Amino acid sequence: MLPIVQGGMGIGVSAHRLAGTVARLGAVGTISSVDLRRHHKDLMEQTAKHRDKELINAVNLIALDREIKAAQVIADGNGMVAVNIMRAVAEYAASVRQACESGANAVVVGAGLPLDLPELTAGYPDVALIPILSDTRGISLVIKKWMRKNRLPDAIVIENPHSAGGHLGAMSLDTIQDPHFAFPTVLEGTLELFKQLGIEREKIPLIVAGGVHSHEQMRDLLALGASAVQLGTPFAVTEEGDAHLNFKKVLTEARPEDIVTFMSVAGLPARAVCTPWLANYLEKEVKLQLKATPKQCTVGFDCLHQCGLRDGNAKAGQFCIDTQLAFALNGDIKRGLFFRGSEVLPFGSEIRSVQDLISYFMTGVRPEMVAVPA
Ligand SMILES: Cc1cc2nc3c(=O)[nH]c(=O)nc-3n(C[C@H](O)[C@H](O)[C@H](O)COP(=O)(O)O)c2cc1C
Ligand code: SF4
Repeated sequence: MLPIVQGGMGIGVSAHRLAGTVARLGAVGTISSVDLRRHHKDLMEQTAKHRDKELINAVNLIALDREIKAAQVIADGNGMVAVNIMRAVAEYAASVRQACESGANAVVVGAGLPLDLPELTAGYPDVALIPILSDTRGISLVIKKWMRKNRLPDAIVIENPHSAGGHLGAMSLDTIQDPHFAFPTVLEGTLELFKQLGIEREKIPLIVAGGVHSHEQMRDLLALGASAVQLGTPFAVTEEGDAHLNFKKVLTEARPEDIVTFMSVAGLPARAVCTPWLANYLEKEVKLQLKATPKQCTVGFDCLHQCGLRDGNAKAGQFCIDTQLAFALNGDIKRGLFFRGSEVLPFGSEIRSVQDLISYFMTGVRPEMVAVPA
């Protein structure tokens, strides 16, 4: 297996095409489980005019099944096809079970502590279990809890909120830059924890994520004790990335000053490009938070366990994340919410193939851009 993992990216940004292509090249490709019906016209037609939560959940499981199977066809027995499921989504348990049943090689869980993952996957011992955590404390908590259930993680993703895209594993906006999240600190602390718990270092590979954008950086992180790197934004903007071309352009063309952090409806900080919708929302955020009151889910989907907008939680975001992320997936620059990591991209504003990206990370040589015949 190559020491490269493609991070799960919702909604629909990492579906079968991206994950399957990454796996085919011998790395780990990850499908994000959230609201995958958006890639299936027939399933969207069934649910577009409905506010029926049960129906939306049912078709999303069908979409997840289709996406995993399609990715495995592309992978053709190479690498691994993983499924990323956020602990914060309401259909977490059902999605974990579906991922196992549909033939995912690994289940990767972030945005919350997956303390119950061993039970949920008990009938599928061959499916690798990979939590995403951000600091030594969270890693210690999950490992100790899982050890009581006679299970160890098959790998751990260490995601640094300082630079990662999407939802961030920090308690608040003020703590995103906290030095205890730095890779050297977390790697050192985790290897020390393994020693204390009598876990051999090789038993649980550590995968670092957030802002990894160069071959040299990957080499240094592997030398520090990481077994692999996880990349999100660099894969989102590849030719095979499953989102609309406009999505990729927004990410590749963003300047450092365009990338902002804010509170998501899920009650976690998040990082995205400050496109027109987000700029407008952030201007009104305080007013909206002052008016926050519990109400029905705006689209009847109830996608999150805890939603700041629906539950009237003034400390969380006040927008429907499902709606805004779906606009972004479809390339609506005005209305979309475009998650992105904070770092520069390996190929600048160029949209390149997964093959080029993996080849650059493995060799340090940027492949020439192949001219498309006129
Ligand atoms: C567009 C986008 C969507 C993301 N969606 C998810 C998600 O659904 N679940 C998750 O665990 N992480 C998500 N992430 C985080 C990535 O999987 C990855 O860990 C992170 O982006 C790494 O940082 P990088 O983008 O700097 O490489 C997302 C990131 C991006 C850029
Ligand atoms: S209002 Fe909240 S729970 Fe309902 S779909 Fe939107 S983000 Fe999800």
